[in-house]
Amino acid sequence: MYTEIELDKIDICSEPPAEEPARQYYFMARCQEWAKDFEQKHGRRPTACVTTFGCQMNARDSEKLRGILRDIGYIEAQEEQADFVIYNTCTVRENANTRVYGRIGQLKPRKKKHPHMMIGLCGCMMQEPEVVEKLKKSYSFIDLIFGTHNIYKFAELLAARFEAGRMVIDIWKDTDKIVEDLPNERKYPFKSGINIMFGCNNFCSYCIVPYVRGRERSRKPEAIIREIRRLVADGVTEVMLLGQNVNSYGKTLDAPMSFAELLSEIEKIDGLRRIRFMTSHPKDLSDELIEVMGKSKKICRHLHLPVQSGSTRILDKMNRRYTKEQYLGLVNKLRHAVPGISLTTDIIVGFPGETEADFQETLDVVRKVRYDSAFTFIYSKRTGTPAAVMEEQVPEDVIRDRFDRLLKEVQSIAGEVCALHEGTVQEALIESVSEQDASMVTGRLSNNLLVHFPGGQEMIGSYVKVLLKACKGFYYLGEPAGLPSGQDDGMK
Ligand code: SAH
Ligand code: SF4
Ligand code: F3S
Repeated sequence: MYTEIELDKIDICSEPPAEEPARQYYFMARCQEWAKDFEQKHGRRPTACVTTFGCQMNARDSEKLRGILRDIGYIEAQEEQADFVIYNTCTVRENANTRVYGRIGQLKPRKKKHPHMMIGLCGCMMQEPEVVEKLKKSYSFIDLIFGTHNIYKFAELLAARFEAGRMVIDIWKDTDKIVEDLPNERKYPFKSGINIMFGCNNFCSYCIVPYVRGRERSRKPEAIIREIRRLVADGVTEVMLLGQNVNSYGKTLDAPMSFAELLSEIEKIDGLRRIRFMTSHPKDLSDELIEVMGKSKKICRHLHLPVQSGSTRILDKMNRRYTKEQYLGLVNKLRHAVPGISLTTDIIVGFPGETEADFQETLDVVRKVRYDSAFTFIYSKRTGTPAAVMEEQVPEDVIRDRFDRLLKEVQSIAGEVCALHEGTVQEALIESVSEQDASMVTGRLSNNLLVHFPGGQEMIGSYVKVLLKACKGFYYLGEPAGLPSGQDDGMK
């Protein structure tokens, strides 16, 4: 395990090892020499800032980058003060790209003033050849560009940048490789995301993710369990299992295993109290999984189940491979097996060819399911995806109008659903001191909603029973109801 590897003991004068992860530790040791030189020259250690755009996958990848930077000798700093600024980018919608270009542009004058400053770009946007071309041409002040498949090679690429003294670019089209046991730096001591699989094979017709994250591949269950055990030993009690479609976990393994089986194994880990996962694709949500969720004492009472559209006709054009009725059928089964389960979703408005009647079907699903919350997106055309060349792109003003109507419906239902829990006592994992009021703490309930209530810093990471006094739409105000919860009183 990485904490047992002492970088100082690695012989950096010899040739780099061929196998992973030893090779990366070798390059970390080389970068560490560079960091020591920096300290001698500047009288302080170098600083770095990793900024994440996009989803939880990217957030987890950023933790891996931070772990490597920490072991090399960097200290974390705000972006404005950092010697090394890294953007881990997202390209799922056009506006994600626009934001990144804007931010890179803002870095240029700073880099001119402080030539020793370095800029690194990685993540999904870098997997698009047009983006890299544009960066090479118009943003030549960037130091390091790499993609999603070779993120584990960060130390090696950084060493290459130090040696070359100019821009280093390394992007792979795809990979079947999974490198285990590299460092990472968790954002929270008490909870952690864990990749259980990478990539996506679904090719929803609007979505760029399969093109930038490559083919689906699952981590071995032993590696996942080992990682979780170590995390639990290190104080983690809540895990979030991550994948673009966790329900198809295990299909590509030499010894195939279902997601439900994996969950049952994870459930057995002593000291682990809460299990979450995302994202679930409705087409692969099995009865076996619903049953495991119903029986589990640790799986949280929340499921994010993206519907995307309520119209079977549009779902077909989206290549989602389920109908409106099948989706509603799943929701019924879930509600039956896991009473009180909180459901959230993703919805796209304005997919090519979407008519008012199709949109009404979406509203109908929203009204029938009564989501606790929903992420609503305006369809964004992604070059290279089948939907980008579909006819009947919906006019912007029509999409805007539908989007506003949908948001209103979603919000009003979410408010009603949230109010249902008012007056109940539920267990919260305390995550932080409240941002608005330093005399309050913020906790997360099993159903993923937040509650703010009086408390202090020392409560962070503990489980507390809270009376939900008032519902404020998307969160609650509460008060502690008794002593901190015990280890074995049923976490649901
Ligand atoms: N793998 C996950 C989600 C990945 S992207 C899943 O299948 O649910 C997160 C969300 O972004 C998607 O659920 C979808 O609602 C939205 N999204 C993806 N591509 C989009 C596009 N081209 N335009 C608008 N929204 C999009
Ligand atoms: Fe995109 Fe569909 Fe894969 Fe989700 S399942 S990442 S929406 S292609
Ligand atoms: Fe964005 Fe990549 Fe995630 S495109 S949504 S960061 S997988």
